This record gives sequence, C-alpha cells and structure tokens, in this order.
Amino acid sequence: MILKGKRGIIFGALDEKSIAWKVAEKAHAEGATFVLTNAPIALRMGTINKLAEATNSQIIAADVTKNEDIESLITKSMEILGGKLDFVLHSVGMSMNIRKGKAYTDLDYESMHKTIDISAMSFHRVMQLCMKQDAINEWGSVVTLSYIAAQRVFPDYNEMGDTKAMLESITRSFGYHYGKAKKVRVNSISQSPTKTTAGSGVKGFEGFYDYAEKMSPLGNASSEDCANYCITLFSDYTRMVTMQNLFHDGGFSFTGVSYEVVNV
Ligand SMILES: NC(=O)c1ccc[n+]([C@@H]2O[C@H](COP(=O)([O-])OP(=O)(O)OC[C@H]3O[C@@H](n4cnc5c(N)ncnc54)[C@H](O)[C@@H]3O)[C@@H](O)[C@H]2O)c1
Repeated sequence: MILKGKRGIIFGALDEKSIAWKVAEKAHAEGATFVLTNAPIALRMGTINKLAEATNSQIIAADVTKNEDIESLITKSMEILGGKLDFVLHSVGMSMNIRKGKAYTDLDYESMHKTIDISAMSFHRVMQLCMKQDAINEWGSVVTLSYIAAQRVFPDYNEMGDTKAMLESITRSFGYHYGKAKKVRVNSISQSPTKTTAGSGVKGFEGFYDYAEKMSPLGNASSEDCANYCITLFSDYTRMVTMQNLFHDGGFSFTGVSYEVVNV
C-alpha cells in the first residue's frame, strides 16, 4: 500500500490495453484514490465505466486541448477526492498525420499542430493550471509517457518524434519551476513499444515491436511493468527524482547491437 492516502488524476485510460488503465488498477491496489479522465469522445465508448467501478473512482470528461475543461477537472477532482492532489498521470497522445498515413516529408500542418497540442502542450497546460489552483501537495509527482523517437529516428513515428522531444523538454523546464515553487516533481517515462490503440496505430508497429524485443536484453517492457514503474514514481520512495526522462525499455536505449539482430 505504498500510495495509501494519496490522491490523483489519471488521464488516458481508453480500454484495457491502455497504459493508464494498468496504472489505475495498480494505484487502486496500492491504496490511492483518483479521478479518471479522458476526451468526451473517448468516454462515449463507455469501456472506462468498468475501470471506474473496479477502482471505485469517478470519471470526468476533459479535452486536454481546452483550458476550461482542465480547470474544471482540477477543481472537481479536489472536491471529489477531498483535498489536494499527490499525483497526476498524463498518458495522452494522438497524431492525425499517422492516422491519415501521411509521410514525415508530406505533413499536414493543421494535423501537426493538433498533434503537438494534444500530445505535448497539454502536459504544460495541465501543470500550469494545477499550479494556478495550487492543486498539488508538496512532494507530489507528475508523470508523462514518452518514446525513444524523441532522441532517435523512427521514420514512421512521424511528427510524434518531434512532439515527444518537446514533451521531454517541457518535463525538464516545468520540473525546474514546479520543483522550485512547490517541491513538485515532474518526470517522463520512455516506454518500450506496447500493444495499445495508440501504439498499434503506427505504421510498421509489429516490425519495430519485434526489433525492440530482439535488441533489449530484458525484452520489451509490458504495460503492467510500466504501471509498476509509475507507481514507484508516485510513491515517497522516489522523492528526489525530478526533471528526468527515465528509460523503461528493458535496456533497448543503451544497446548498440544484439546477437538476435545480427543473427549470430
Ligand atoms: N503504446 C506504445 O507503444 C507507447 C510507447 C511509448 C509511449 N507511449 C505513450 O503512452 C501514452 C499512452 O498511450 P497508450 O499506448 O496507452 O495508448 P492509448 O491509445 O490507450 O492512450 C492514448 C490516450 O490519449 C487519449 N487522448 C487523445 N486525445 C485526447 C484529448 N484531446 N484529450 C484527452 N485525451 C486524449 C485517448 O483517448 C487515449 O485514452 C501516449 O503518450 C503514448 O504516446 C506509448
């Protein structure tokens, strides 16, 4: 029960495959209480009701690109949970260019703008609005999810690579300011390819999933493993960790080549 008494908001549980879904299950098992949130359109599927029931939590609709939605989410969450927050999981990402199958050299800029707004600027927005409402307790923890395409080229990951680089930069910059002002910690987890709706939408996903599996000495990290890592970051056992991009990828990021890949 390492999260006993802690309150939070979990963004991005779409279905049972979502990383945020696993985080919610584990946070509940570790004693946390939280509000679940997703875009109104995602909530219409209704799948999240099952998770809310299982974790005894309430659901609030919020589009991460809208200030008024996020402001009201924060206010209502504190009312429902009976106090300020201790953790926030931002597990949100979407690229219209990937969905439309556009190549990196033929991007639609309206779509790119939307990708950046949903997948990176929203992280700044959530923290800025939390800070304005003084919604997070001292030593609270904010976590977002990134991918190694922020550092290396994965051709079909498209403008999401640039967007993840921005997300990781916001993690550092806001981490500095939130740490100084309120002792709130901010980190990103750079996760292995994972078979979720967002992950599987990337062209050639199966190919780089298998490649990463062969390259990583421990194999790909599952969404359950990722959720466990998130829980440690929400807990008091990682109080001095902030402004980091933390690779959670079975060793992929530091492996040059593996026997499996060169067929030795
Ligand atoms: N799956 C992978 O291979 C992988 C690897 C590394 C990092 N990540 C990151 O993990 C995070 C979670 O993705 P996932 O793999 O669990 O997939 P997912 O599709 O289950 O989750 C993405 C979530 O973003 C939400 N979302 C999209 N637009 C939104 C909006 N306007 N407002 C609010 N919510 C919105 C979706 O409804 C969905 O719940 C993403 O940031 C993703 O980039 C995924």
